[in-house]
Amino acid sequence: MFWLKLNFQDNLSFFRQYLNFFHDCNLLVLVSLLVFVLCFLISVFINKFYKSIFLELEIVEIIWTFLPCLILVFLGWPSIQLLYSLENNEYFNRLTLKVIGHQWYWSYDYGNFRNLRFDSFMVIENDLNIGEFRLLEVDNKVILPFNSTIRVLIISADVLHAWALPSIGVKADANPGRLNQRFIFSIFPGSYYGQCSELCGVNHSFIPINVEFTSLSIFKSWLKLAKQIY
Ligand code: CU
Repeated sequence: MFWLKLNFQDNLSFFRQYLNFFHDCNLLVLVSLLVFVLCFLISVFINKFYKSIFLELEIVEIIWTFLPCLILVFLGWPSIQLLYSLENNEYFNRLTLKVIGHQWYWSYDYGNFRNLRFDSFMVIENDLNIGEFRLLEVDNKVILPFNSTIRVLIISADVLHAWALPSIGVKADANPGRLNQRFIFSIFPGSYYGQCSELCGVNHSFIPINVEFTSLSIFKSWLKLAKQIY
């Protein structure tokens, strides 16, 4: 597909670029349509010449039936493709992160490593260091290796939550009793911030998500450390 051939220009994940490109394409189509229809409307209102005996023309009717159909297919096909590719297993290689939503914190479970599970609470304002983000920092960050595809399984222990990392193109509902699957991939190391995106109760605004992508060697040494701490 022509729109699969994307360039990695900045620190955005593959899916995020995919989503951005899809959004831009659709916006282009929709704005063009709007301008087209507006031009017609304006010309109808200001035009002095009209045909009072003009009743039907088959070819015009065929065009104005099939053209919108084609536009809908053009919009719908990449949308469905994108929707399916977000949950496509073929990108998956090794690492699985299980995310469990709670009122009001997130639990993370590294399925590949025995007994590595921890809770991630927001850091309150008074405990923040200089340079840290208010309402976005957590005490236990998720550490993941960059440049590798990671499967994220999202579930909730109580009510509906949503695990969202906008800059990486992930927003998935955490439903009690149902696993949602997403894939995350970062081209570069760095910190990604997100918040719960499904109204879940009074402390909905205070369960941020903080994922840090590091190199594989740092990730491995963090694993050794984390197994002792958590
Ligand atoms: Cu919430």
